[in-house]
Amino acid sequence: MKPAHLISAAFQALENAHAPYSGYQVGAALLCEDGTVFSGCNVENASYGLTNCAERTALFSAIAAGYRNFTAIAISASKEPAPFPCGACRQVMAEFCAPDFPVYIAEGPGFKTATLGELLPHSFNLGDSNA
Ligand code: THU
Repeated sequence: MKPAHLISAAFQALENAHAPYSGYQVGAALLCEDGTVFSGCNVENASYGLTNCAERTALFSAIAAGYRNFTAIAISASKEPAPFPCGACRQVMAEFCAPDFPVYIAEGPGFKTATLGELLPHSFNLGDSNA
């Protein structure tokens, strides 16, 4: 699947966002190795800290469905600029995705690309701390 198609899926996903507090709707589309796409949106809460980001919603949906191998993720937002993933989402991605995992971020009619390794160098994992 082309990155542009994954970006479109991310824009569709943000339609389901629950973002009454920030007014900032975020969508994510996660491409699995077999071509399956899992969508996610941000889900806010009156207790603000309980908010779940779009990226983690997509990842957790995929994991709960039994998927483990991911090819790319696309992120969109209801307002420019679409976000780079927050630190928590980067760490969750690092649990399942390699440093060369591409992250596509909607920008105007196109998108920009970063790798997970660029976004989260030296990510924490137990292998490192046990060494
Ligand atoms: N948000 C995401 O869903 N993904 C990001 O990468 C950044 C932030 C959401 C969380 C919250 O609902 C809103 O954007 C404002 O922070």
